[in-house]
Amino acid sequence: MQPMKSVYIKTFGCQMNVYDSERMVESLAQEGYSETADMANADVIILNTCHIREKAVDKVYSDLGRIREIKDERRAQGRDTMVAVAGCVAQAEGSEIIARERAVDIVVGPQSYHRLPALMKRAKSEQKRLIETSFPDHEKFEQLPQRPAAPVASASAFLTVQEGCDKFCTFCVVPYTRGAEYSRTVADVVAEAHKLVARGVRELTLLGQNVNAYHGADSDGSQATLATLIRRLAEIDDLKRIRYTTSHPRDMRDDLILAHAEVDKLMPYLHLPFQAGADRILAAMNRKHTAADYRATVARLRAVRPDIALSTDIIVGFPGESEGEFQQTLALVAEMGFAAAYTFKYSPRPGTPAATMDGQVPEEVKSERLARLQVALEAAHASFNATVVGRTVPVLFEKPARQDGQLVGRTPYLQHVSVEADAALIGQIRPVEILSALPYSLQGCLAPA
Ligand code: 5AD
Ligand code: SF4
Repeated sequence: MQPMKSVYIKTFGCQMNVYDSERMVESLAQEGYSETADMANADVIILNTCHIREKAVDKVYSDLGRIREIKDERRAQGRDTMVAVAGCVAQAEGSEIIARERAVDIVVGPQSYHRLPALMKRAKSEQKRLIETSFPDHEKFEQLPQRPAAPVASASAFLTVQEGCDKFCTFCVVPYTRGAEYSRTVADVVAEAHKLVARGVRELTLLGQNVNAYHGADSDGSQATLATLIRRLAEIDDLKRIRYTTSHPRDMRDDLILAHAEVDKLMPYLHLPFQAGADRILAAMNRKHTAADYRATVARLRAVRPDIALSTDIIVGFPGESEGEFQQTLALVAEMGFAAAYTFKYSPRPGTPAATMDGQVPEEVKSERLARLQVALEAAHASFNATVVGRTVPVLFEKPARQDGQLVGRTPYLQHVSVEADAALIGQIRPVEILSALPYSLQGCLAPA
């Protein structure tokens, strides 16, 4: 029998890339490849890349340098290595990657990765380097293999329901790399959810670059909203928890807010980026909302679900941002009580309007603002975690923890919690008393049911 061929995949960037990587591994599994964590001995190496900030792109090219050395060493031993660059850098830079890095055999964009097995065969038989970055009319979801029946490693999984973005924030490459908004049908999503649940998944995070703009076709021909989709998924008995990310403040419509009040399985957590606190900057970003709109949306949510935990994305040093405008960002942070936040220095992206705007902010000013923002957010994060200490909350156990005898679970508010518990509890929800809070995780113990 031939030894199994192996594939190593490294995922950069967002959760959608995590989902895409899983699907690529599944489609290669059908061709007889097993996943390996050992890059140096892999027959196929895939980098699933992110283009959102310059740093993420630089990291891809530095990894490719190392991969070139591995490929050369393996070739000297008579072994082939196929190297593919997938994801958003592939989409944005296409032939540039081929020109810049001789180790790369295949460049495949996020809309075409279902073609990866076929591309690999062609690259091999024709001894050619291939680029596939077309947008083949959303055939991807239909053409990917059925999800396999094997039990999943974690009780929590991602499910992409929507892709792409029509918002065109002036700093962002997503509308160019992921293309126009597209929503999968309700039936398609529900079918995939059933398959994942049959494999042991108990929590689904619905993914989309603009997930709350979801508008997939329903079986009666109408257009479903995200709220309708969530209600439909909530009918799956063994699915216990539903989350979604990432949302745009403009698309937080009443029916979605109402779902937070009425659908028990919808978790009290929302990732809602606000990007900047000053209206002048929000307008220059083309966010199409003001700071007051954001406050009002959060107030509507908290009115129906007072315990909802909020997280956000914030950019510092957008072109033209003054110290006073940055302080409006700090003020919003102080006011909102974020449970978590992702903070970024503005990174000019080629082809986006903001990259050529006047008033680019010097790097040291960006760094200094980022540091001050992070201090404020750490305080907010610690005080949010402190609110659950001493309480008993339902925890979904996801997988074994690094420490023996412990499991990692999540509170409804997406906090990690480590608990001494039997592995048989993976996939189950149990009351846990939260004993203490470290900066990024909680410690708890099983409480009587
Ligand atoms: N520079 C810095 N941060 C960015 N983001 C998107 N584009 C850029 C950029 N050019 C951030 C936004 C977005 C998150 C996914 O990444 O905050 O919400
Ligand atoms: Fe990018 Fe704005 Fe679309 Fe989010 S809403 S993906 S930041 S363009």
